[in-house]
Order: sequence, then structure tokens, then C-alpha cells
Amino acid sequence: MAEPEIQIYQDRESLSEAAAELFVELAGQAAGKFTVALSGGSTPKELYRLLASDKFKNEIDWTKLFFLIGDERDAPPDSPDSNYRMASETLFGPLNISNQQILRWETEHNDPQIITREFERCLERFAAKDQPSAAAGGTDPLPRIDLILLGLGSDAHTASLFPHTDALHETERTAAANRVEKLDTWRFTLTFPVINNAANVVFLAAGADKAEAVQTVIEGNRNTDEFPAQSVYPKNGRLIWLLDDAAARLLTKSRS
Ligand code: 6PG
Repeated sequence: MAEPEIQIYQDRESLSEAAAELFVELAGQAAGKFTVALSGGSTPKELYRLLASDKFKNEIDWTKLFFLIGDERDAPPDSPDSNYRMASETLFGPLNISNQQILRWETEHNDPQIITREFERCLERFAAKDQPSAAAGGTDPLPRIDLILLGLGSDAHTASLFPHTDALHETERTAAANRVEKLDTWRFTLTFPVINNAANVVFLAAGADKAEAVQTVIEGNRNTDEFPAQSVYPKNGRLIWLLDDAAARLLTKSRS
């Protein structure tokens, strides 16, 4: 795996701007279909709004893009908690992205195993490329997503891969229903095998409350059960950290 690329920006706004420029660059490099797994949470909202703004929306051929929700809460698609709803309001709606270009977790099924099985079944087809993935020199059983956007919790969780939860140890399946006792809820998430099979993985982290987790994940001693984001290392792809000064405050040796 290549070394993580760490880029630090003065504030959240310039971080989001840089993320939008990177998104345009990566999507522009795609010969055909470009698959993107969107992160949930609040940090990426500004990026999604920027991409749908006059400044960036004409830089991308949106008909080539196929979106999946990288992780989801146990909430209906119209719930304020839904990552799908957040992406719809900030990105899919303003850009008129068709439902055929979106893979979401059908949380209305209510049964965590059905929700996950359905997502996994669709992911295989959704992320299939026209040609075998270059990574394996042939067809790779795992989907190879072109770009996975990830956030980071102050507890060093990413997607819905929380400390000391079962999904951290999933080595086969591409999607998991993850019981998160500390939140007393189910979460739905891509697993590390598919995250680490991606061509580009980009963490977006901003704010002083993320500084300790950023430093621990990038520079700290490995303890992947305690700090799940340490398990993100694309085996044949780029790992990029986009940070603001506040989130990067505790980094020592990793500043470029
Ligand atoms: C979610 C996310 C989660 C998020 C982090 C950071 O469903 O909330 O996928 O992993 O990225 O918790 O969230 P903020 O960006 O809101 O700090």
C-alpha cells in the first residue's frame, strides 16, 4: 500500500473546496462509469453542496457517476437521521441524479439482515466494471469502488465501523449490519474488505474534536479494535487525508 497522502487546510471551507477539486479530478480521470461511496455525518455536507453549486456542477459529467451510501443509520429514508436523505438534499436532488444511479440501504425493510443482504446483492452488480479490475489482473470477487469518502468519529470510528463491534472482523462480506451497543442501535456499513479494495479512499476530518483521533489513527500504535479507522489501508489504491488545521493540530511526523 502506498503511504497516506496528508493534506492540511486552514479551515473547513478550504478543506471542502479542496475535496471538491479532488472529486472533479478523480471523476474526470474515469474513462466510463465512476462509482462513489458517500460518507454520512456533517463534515461532507459542505462538499456535497459545493459539488452541486454553479462553481463545480458543470465540471463533471454526472451521467457517468454512480453513488452508494457508504453507511446508514437504522432510520427510514425520509428521516432527518438518514445519510441517504442528507445526500439527497445536498447532492442528488439539486443535480437531478436519477434513482438508477443511486444505491441506498432499504432501511424500510426493518430487518437488519434483509437490509444488508439486499444492499450486498445490488452492490455486486452496481459496482461491476465493464472490464476485470486491474488490481487482480482479472475479475476480483470484491467490487472495486473508484472513490470512497469517509468521515472520522472522535472515537476513531469510520463509516459505521465502531470500536469493539462485530463488523470490524468481517473479512468476506462487502456489507454488514452492525449492532452498536453504545448507541443502542443497528448501523449498516461497507466492510473493510471492500473499503480496502477501492481505488481511492479519502478521509475528510475537520474540527478540534477530531485531532486526537486523527493523530492516533495516522501516527499512533495500532489497536484496530479500539481505533477502527486504523484498518483502512487500500491494498492497491490511494489513501488521502483531507484535514483542517484544527483536526491536524496534534500530528507530528506526518505533516507534508
Ligand atoms: C455517519 C458517518 C460517520 C461519520 C463520523 C463523522 O453515519 O455519521 O458515516 O462515520 O462520518 O461519525 O461524523 P461528522 O462528520 O458529523 O463529525
